[in-house]
Parts: sequence; C-alpha cells; structure tokens
Amino acid sequence: MMKDTLTIQYPDDWHLHLRDGDMLRAVLPETARHFARAIVMPNLVPPVITGADAQAYRARILNALPEGMTFQPLMTLYLTENTDPDDVAAAHASGLIAAVKLYPAGATTNSASGVADFDKVRGVLERMAQIGLPLCVHGEVTDANIDIFDRESVFIDRVLDPIRRATPGLRVVMEHITTAQAVDYVRAHDDDLAATITTHHLVINRNHILVGGIHPHYYCLPVAKRETHRLALVQAATSGDNRFFLGTDSAPHMDAAKQTACGCAGCFTATNTLSILAEVFERENALDRLEGFTSRHGPAF
Ligand code: DOR
Ligand code: ZN
Repeated sequence: MMKDTLTIQYPDDWHLHLRDGDMLRAVLPETARHFARAIVMPNLVPPVITGADAQAYRARILNALPEGMTFQPLMTLYLTENTDPDDVAAAHASGLIAAVKLYPAGATTNSASGVADFDKVRGVLERMAQIGLPLCVHGEVTDANIDIFDRESVFIDRVLDPIRRATPGLRVVMEHITTAQAVDYVRAHDDDLAATITTHHLVINRNHILVGGIHPHYYCLPVAKRETHRLALVQAATSGDNRFFLGTDSAPHMDAAKQTACGCAGCFTATNTLSILAEVFERENALDRLEGFTSRHGPAF
C-alpha cells in the first residue's frame, strides 16, 4: 500500500528573511506554522550589525508572533568592515546570536554595507574561529566582469577557499548553494564546512525564469543555474550526507517590487516548502531522508 503520511521531527530553517514591521507580521506565522527555529537574516534597512541591534530585532520578532504559536529566532549579525570582534563575542557568549553573516558588498538585496576588503574582517573571523561561532556566507563575487551564472564558483576559488585556509577552525555554512562546484567543494572538505540548499533551487532551473516570458517570482540570488546543477543539488539534498541541510532563503517582497522593469531578487517559499520538499524527496525515492535534511543535519552542525 502507498504510504500517505510521514512523521518527522519538527523542522528548522537555516536561512530565512523575516523582514520587519507589517511584512514581519504577515510572514512570521507562515514559518512558525512549520518550523521550530530559523536562522534569521540580518539584511534589514539599516542592517542588524551590533549585538544591541540583534537584541532589539529579536524582541520585535517575538512580539509579532501570534498568540499560541511557538518559534525560536536564531539571530545573526551582519558583518561589516567595522564590526567589533568584542561585540560579536559578547553577543555569542550571551546566547543571543547563532552566527555571523557575510555579504560581499553589493552581492544582493540590502548588501551595500557588506564586505569589500576581506582583510578588514580578518580579526573578526579569527575571533569567531576561536569561539566556535559559525560564519554564514552569501557566496557570490560582485566583479562586474564575472558572468552572473559563474559568480558562485568563482567566489569559491577566489574568496572562500583563501578565507578558510587563512582561518583554520572557522566553521562555515555556504548558504543557498546553486552549483555542482559548490556541492563538490563541500564534499571535498570534511571539517567545519556545510551548505544549505533552498526549496526553489531543488525545483527550478534557469529555464523556468526565462522561457516563455520572464517569470520574476522565480528570480532570486544566487540565480538558478542550468539543469545539471539542479540535479547535483537534488542529489546532495537527498543523499543523506549530513553536510547538506535546508535553508529556505524564503524572501518576501511586495508584488510591486517583483513585477516591475527592474524586479528585485527573492522567492517567498515558507508557506509551501515542506510539501514541495516531500515531493522532491518522494520522486527520488528518498522520503526516509527528508527528516535528515529538514530536521537533523542542521542542528548537528
Ligand atoms: O534572492 C535573494 N533575496 N537573495 C538574497 O541573497 C537576499 C534575498 C532578499 O533579502 O530578498
Ligand atoms: Zn537570503
């Protein structure tokens, strides 16, 4: 008989945009309905840079949670060239933050305050390695000469690998990976390295964005790549390898900001993520591995 129910440990989302104000109140229940915890991205305007910023944002999130719902926001700090290692260490020691987020300056939505000169954050990264605080990385170069479809793989060679070599012991999460090169890089490095995979990158490739008219709601960053890369991501997610886990990158925007001459990046997926993932894993005959991807590998890392 076909199995039609599946019971799994409460999932977590290891990469989520909750925004602020009205948008926060609108989208938070969609996540809290399905997820126990989430790593909350700090790319507000202005960004969540200091421990005090994170403390205040955490309070606003908990305040927006509807009566009767439970949810634990795992806060992150937005790494800038002026970030103070002592402030980061204090926020970590008090249990306030779970990670620090690295945006290369200009890589994506609200990343203008990100890092341009990686030497300037060396002190913070070394401190993080000492105290065991993970770095979540948006892995794309911003060099105008690099084709947008190559920006992730070039980032691995030019930025990520040098940072990891220079900072032994730094725990790194490569976020929302979109390429076979990223899958291979994670597989080749046992220690201190993991990757999140979004829901949408498991089901769309670049044709879905561009064939038959432009589909702005499928546009996100890193942009979806060709089908061979999607297949590599599906293989990684459904393989049972505990270095790969779910980070939805659910990123809500108003329709007016998506459906315009210069539409912004972000796919809002919190509402439908678990049912879509169940379909992806079922197609691969891997429903028994869904729980690892949604609920076990992330916490273990
Ligand atoms: O598509 C994206 N949307 N990628 C990001 O890195 C940021 C996010 C957002 O904040 O909208
Ligand atoms: Zn994101």
